[in-house]
Amino acid sequence: MVHSGKDVKDPPKDQWGQPLYDKMKGDFKWAKDVIPTYVWFNGSVERHLLGEKIDPSKQPMHHNYPLGKKGKKNAKIWPFKVMKGKQMYDSGNNTFAVPHLFGGYWKHYDWNQAMADGMKAAGLPYSGKYDWVETDMYWKITHMVVPKTQALKCNDCHGEKGRMDWKALGYGSDPRKKS
Ligand code: HEC
Repeated sequence: MVHSGKDVKDPPKDQWGQPLYDKMKGDFKWAKDVIPTYVWFNGSVERHLLGEKIDPSKQPMHHNYPLGKKGKKNAKIWPFKVMKGKQMYDSGNNTFAVPHLFGGYWKHYDWNQAMADGMKAAGLPYSGKYDWVETDMYWKITHMVVPKTQALKCNDCHGEKGRMDWKALGYGSDPRKKS
């Protein structure tokens, strides 16, 4: 369910003063000092393109997913910021959709109209039915690196409370432990 399009006077804010609601975009959840998501990355990503068929039973849909596997050429463990959202799709054709926002939804707040206009402008068919899918987007972290005094220590990655998901990264367990 998407909650955009409501007139909310003085929407609530979080502890950093960021609004938790915006009529144009709906609900927000903000975070600070987020631990990155670490995945293997060889410099390429797989992308979903406009009008491409999607399988809504597989959520979240990755807009772009880093390619690369442990032990494969050029692959490194790389930190990403994962931006999560909800996005419209054409639930009749099961395609990613493009709603018309500027001068469209943000004027009339009618999603169906925004879909019809957006898809037409993009030259894509629209079945007249839409729904929402959970999506995410992987943003490579290459900026805002902390000063060396805050560099990670052994146990920030290894050990009980370490940030590495060793299983997900293809290790049987924490490689520091010698079996
Ligand atoms: C940023 C995360 C990170 C930090 C910080 C870190 N490690 Fe690691 N460590 C890794 C990863 C990832 C591997 C697996 C490397 C590989 O597969 O080649 C690893 C592997 C190891 C291994 C196994 C090496 C092998 O050849 O099997 C040992 C031992 C180890 N780390 C010890 C340490 C010690 C000691 C420190 C602190 C001085 C440390 N690590 C800091 C991420 C980290």
